[in-house]
Amino acid sequence: MGERPLAKVLKDKLTGDEMELIPRSYDIIGSREKAVAVIEIPEGLESKKILIAEAVMKMNKNVRSVLNKISGRKGVFRLEDLELLIGDKNTEVIHKEYGYLIKLDPQKVFFSPRELTERQRIANQVKSGETVLIMFSGSMPYGIAIAKRQPLVKKIYGVEINPEAHEYAKENVMKNKLSHKFTLINDDVRKVCTEMEKVDRIVMPYSVGAYQYLDSAFSCIKSGGTIHFYHISPEEDMFSEAESFVRSIAGDFERKIEILNRVKVLPFGTRYFKICLDVKVLG
Ligand SMILES: C[S@@+](CC[C@H](N)C(=O)[O-])C[C@H]1O[C@@H](n2cnc3c(N)ncnc32)[C@H](O)[C@@H]1O
Repeated sequence: MGERPLAKVLKDKLTGDEMELIPRSYDIIGSREKAVAVIEIPEGLESKKILIAEAVMKMNKNVRSVLNKISGRKGVFRLEDLELLIGDKNTEVIHKEYGYLIKLDPQKVFFSPRELTERQRIANQVKSGETVLIMFSGSMPYGIAIAKRQPLVKKIYGVEINPEAHEYAKENVMKNKLSHKFTLINDDVRKVCTEMEKVDRIVMPYSVGAYQYLDSAFSCIKSGGTIHFYHISPEEDMFSEAESFVRSIAGDFERKIEILNRVKVLPFGTRYFKICLDVKVLG
């Protein structure tokens, strides 16, 4: 969002000190027809939150509801508490990116519109004939990005524990005419991985928790396969902890690995980053 565009709209309504606190950015999820905005109103602007929400709506004609993040992401489903500031109570939208559609309600399922470039980065690596497992698949943005970019992908498994996210994933693969490529499972990754076939590629988009499931990933990756492992790391040392997790579990499974890419994905809070290691499992 760059130079606080909200400040321009609000300049006659806030004091100089309040202007300093205006959020630099907020997320818009949805389409040109209907979208919701998710903003974090800082402490000193509580009393101005409706004014700010009105400014967001004024600047984005497609926004029908403005939600205020009143907690961090929490629990197994990684949801945040969202307070409706103004607009429609129904916050279900159809998000459009790169020509595909993702239906979701941000109050019920995790979704990050900021990860679109990362989804494409992963999708661009998938080769024809691959079988892919998306762990923690949510409403299925990673799987759909892959199947759209690589129509010759053989099969995509999606495993998600939140039943509402699983329902959206089923609807989304249908909406994008991709049902024939997908097997969707509403269960715990740990349990599913003990029973499933070995795959060519595993995506682990659960940056605060994926490290606890590396054993599951190594148990179902083929020799020559690739694991995309996400983690949260401090800015001063972005890859060491993630690499040592991967090397340690690879050692337990007596597998040789090569780190193909170390990627800084997005900022995560202050001075932390969401990162990804693309890990080739050689043997
Ligand atoms: C950070 S979100 C990512 C969702 C999705 N990949 C996306 O990018 O929108 C992590 C997801 O993992 C799911 N999850 C957490 N633990 C799980 C487990 N043990 N098995 C399956 N899904 C799990 C949560 O419900 C949540 O939807």
